[in-house]
Amino acid sequence: MTDKRPLWSSKYSFIITAIGSAVGLGNIWRFPYIMGQYGGAIFLAVYILIISTICFIPLINELYIGKYTKKECVGAYEAINPKFKYLGALNPITGILIAGFYFIVGGWIINYIFKSFSGNPVENLGEYFSEFVKNPFYTCVLTEIFLFICIFFSARGVKKGIETANKVLMPILGVILIFLVIISLNLPNAHEGLEYMFKPDFSKLNSKMILAALGQAFFTLSIGMGALLTYGSYIKEDKTLVKSAYTIILSDTAFAVLAGIMIFPAVFSFNMVPNSGAGLVFVTLPQIFSQLPYGNFISGIFFILLLCAAITSGISIVEVPCAAFVERFNISRVKSCVLLFLCITFFAIPAALSFGMLNDIKLLDKNIFDFLDFLTSNILLPMNAIFLCLISGWFLKLNGNDIIKNKFFALCFCIGLKYIVPIILILLMFMGLN
Ligand code: PFF
Repeated sequence: MTDKRPLWSSKYSFIITAIGSAVGLGNIWRFPYIMGQYGGAIFLAVYILIISTICFIPLINELYIGKYTKKECVGAYEAINPKFKYLGALNPITGILIAGFYFIVGGWIINYIFKSFSGNPVENLGEYFSEFVKNPFYTCVLTEIFLFICIFFSARGVKKGIETANKVLMPILGVILIFLVIISLNLPNAHEGLEYMFKPDFSKLNSKMILAALGQAFFTLSIGMGALLTYGSYIKEDKTLVKSAYTIILSDTAFAVLAGIMIFPAVFSFNMVPNSGAGLVFVTLPQIFSQLPYGNFISGIFFILLLCAAITSGISIVEVPCAAFVERFNISRVKSCVLLFLCITFFAIPAALSFGMLNDIKLLDKNIFDFLDFLTSNILLPMNAIFLCLISGWFLKLNGNDIIKNKFFALCFCIGLKYIVPIILILLMFMGLN
């Protein structure tokens, strides 16, 4: 059925889809609220340190393994050694669990786009949000609509679906983001928001925050569930993997920082608090929009921005299990997508209901939505990355010179892969979990 694997039509297609996978709700919804919860600038500093050092190696490793094996995750691990195929299967499983909470937020966004353009002002947005997320009908239907959109692009295939969606949505995302940054920077007292983002308070440094920064870094770069491995497996030829990796890291960080610059000056300008958690973008920001001239329009395009980001990442989340089903079960893309739709629905519906009907079900003191977020971002993503580093370093005996020409850096890369990254990741995970 899949005698010929699909390939990207150009290097640009690969880069834009990889950036599309990285830049998502993680940058515009999750990053600002986590930064707000962990004290602003100090979180940003730790996050940038982690992203530019520890994350670089697993990111390149994933791309390389995909390019080298030309297989989806399970097949790629199996190609290195058949006994690793079960570890490989953890990648699509992680993808399905991430989709279980990510796609709910996608559904919320669709609702907010309609709400913004309908022009009906809401009196109390905080109350509106908490009532809306409890509504079982709307949240479930909207989650399924968002899931359908992402699965639709994946079902259309690598070139016609994934590439096309990214080539259209990413430029829209960039333009809207810059437009909103300019508006935010021109608000009164915008400098307070910038100070909050860029002036670190070292007393707020702690191990929980470091774990949160690590989880955020993995989540935002899409490392640790095989998205980059799968996208890497569609590369025709890329002799500049290191450059591609830097481009992905730099673009993703730029989008996250710009998202912060779009949000925090506005928050401080209207004397709001930046630590309101997951509701920052759904409660605090709409409150601000409602006080701006052309507020409904600005709110509408902000949520369109969020939707573009969510779709391009959502596509990569479904592509990992989709490709795994196609190649493991030897079925068509469409059949694989139907199967995947059912699997994701199985987790997403309880998570969508976890703010209302299923609010009493707690795992590790968290509702189902928060538990899926914690389990995937802070545990499964780093854990999968540790496994892949160890497997490449010790079993594939990856030669750094295949990736990096400079002998010294190639050696550093191999040492990082075999020892430093796994040790640091294990330590950070234990420190943060205790
Ligand atoms: N990187 C995406 C974001 O920042 O929203 C989320 C994500 C996509 C995580 C793909 C993991 C993944 F494999």
